[in-house]
Amino acid sequence: MRIDIITIFPEFFNSSLDFSILKKAQENNIVDIQIHNLRDYSENKQKSVDDYQFGGGAGMVMNIQPIYKCIEELKSNNSYDEIIYLTPDGQKLNQSICNNLSLKQNIILLCGHYKGIDHRIREHLITKEISIGDYVITGGELAASILTDAIVRLIPGAISDETSALNDSFQDDLLPPPIYTRPSDFNGWKVPEVLLSGNQKEIERWREEKSIERTNNLRPDLLS
Ligand code: ADE
Repeated sequence: MRIDIITIFPEFFNSSLDFSILKKAQENNIVDIQIHNLRDYSENKQKSVDDYQFGGGAGMVMNIQPIYKCIEELKSNNSYDEIIYLTPDGQKLNQSICNNLSLKQNIILLCGHYKGIDHRIREHLITKEISIGDYVITGGELAASILTDAIVRLIPGAISDETSALNDSFQDDLLPPPIYTRPSDFNGWKVPEVLLSGNQKEIERWREEKSIERTNNLRPDLLS
């Protein structure tokens, strides 16, 4: 899979996508993540990428020209399954969207800033708009990192034990059961006996029960 990220802050991605599973997936050529500095595509002298909004009002708007040029250049070299704009008024991200995107070959992620992008880009170039939640963050970079992380870990081979991503919470709309490691007794705080029993059938049954119980208590909306 190839993910092209368009941003005015390319340095942001130096660290955010360069650790743990994301780092390994890139080293093992499971995913190719390319960062593009939007300013490099600006055709004016100042290399500016934004301007005042028509009709007046506070806040700058990202220009069409550099975004158009960048996307067109990318499209002349690859065909893209989706061109995604990260925005708080997009479709709210969930596991099923991530599963679906992890099956794609090539995607573009466009990070917005200021008030957002000229609406004509959304009308003519963007194929999907995604929000990471009903709150506003400073720019799309953090949202693009979250989306990339959530997608890449699902690509077969990204996680050594393939079943482990599929067992993630939310894959079956259930929260995970409690988990424990050594010591089995920490100053009197004990691990549930069943987990030490060695009886795998009993353990599975206990985990399923706890999953349902936690989902009922903490996220009943997932069950309805
Ligand atoms: N940019 C700013 N806020 C955002 C959000 N909640 N989701 C995606 N992109 C954003």
